[in-house]
Amino acid sequence: IQSAGRVSWAGESKAIAEAWRDINGNKGKFGHVLLVGGSYGTFGAPSMSSLAALRTGAGLVTAGVPKMIANEVGRVTPELMVRALAEGDAGEASMANLEEEKLATLIKGISVLAVGPGLSTRGEASEFARALVAKTTMPVVIDADALNAFAGKTELLKSAAAGGRTVVLTPHPGEMGRLAGMTVKEVEADRIGLARKFATEHGVTLVLKGWRTLIAHPDGSIAVNTTGNPSMAKGGSGDILTGIVAAMIAQFPQDVARAVEAAVYLHGLAGDFAAHAMDEHTVLATDTVSHLSDAFRYRV
Ligand code: APR
Ligand code: MG
Repeated sequence: IQSAGRVSWAGESKAIAEAWRDINGNKGKFGHVLLVGGSYGTFGAPSMSSLAALRTGAGLVTAGVPKMIANEVGRVTPELMVRALAEGDAGEASMANLEEEKLATLIKGISVLAVGPGLSTRGEASEFARALVAKTTMPVVIDADALNAFAGKTELLKSAAAGGRTVVLTPHPGEMGRLAGMTVKEVEADRIGLARKFATEHGVTLVLKGWRTLIAHPDGSIAVNTTGNPSMAKGGSGDILTGIVAAMIAQFPQDVARAVEAAVYLHGLAGDFAAHAMDEHTVLATDTVSHLSDAFRYRV
């Protein structure tokens, strides 16, 4: 850690979420998150990301998911808006969604894009994810199978981030390894060094997950997170983080670095409150969402 230079504490950034919401605010002011993901058989991931984005305070959240699962995803909560995507044979998002008019309708009014949870790598899903990132300009959070879509193609991430666009990646060590062409062991051997190198070389914000999640910024600065516990080592936790990150950027676009750090901190803290109220065995990822209120109200 000493050789890594100064590492700040993600909890410091929570302050941005402590001010009251603008009394004069309306839903337009708090941003519109579009969560693109899901595939046949995998409707939980986009549902959980969308729910988390709503609970974090985004003004509007739309889930863009393959038609086959659109009704299922919409059932997570009635506040969620759903847009049915064109799909391939196996119920995965297809390239047809990127036809000029279709894409324009999909992204109209969207302030933050999040892509990946449950997307799958079947059919044209990976090509679709890469092209969606390339053809849009708003801040983007890339997770799960959308990260896998960029494995060995990270120069595309660099071009997406060129010109100062916010590109946030949220890999777990396995996804980080695939992205960087390394083994998980190599990733874990020098998390700080790798995160900083990848973030600065590509101009992206890198959230390297796991116990003590790291947030590496494009300028090379690093924050470490201290919240979270093994109750969160369960499927769905990562999907929820994606929604929280997107919703925080939607509300605080003027300070993306603080927004992402606060999101990681709040996610872990909500998990800590859930584990305290319940038990590390019994907490589900959605219970973490239910404890986001405690996390927001906690004064660091
Ligand atoms: N301590 C603190 N935080 C933890 C711990 C722990 N012991 N265990 C897990 N977490 C947190 C991580 O920091 C991260 O934020 O829970 C989250 C887990 O995220 P993921 O590893 O992405 O897990 P998840 O997405 O829920 O499930 C894995 O997603 O990435 C896809 O293809 C992948 O199907 C797989 C699925
Ligand atoms: Mg994940």
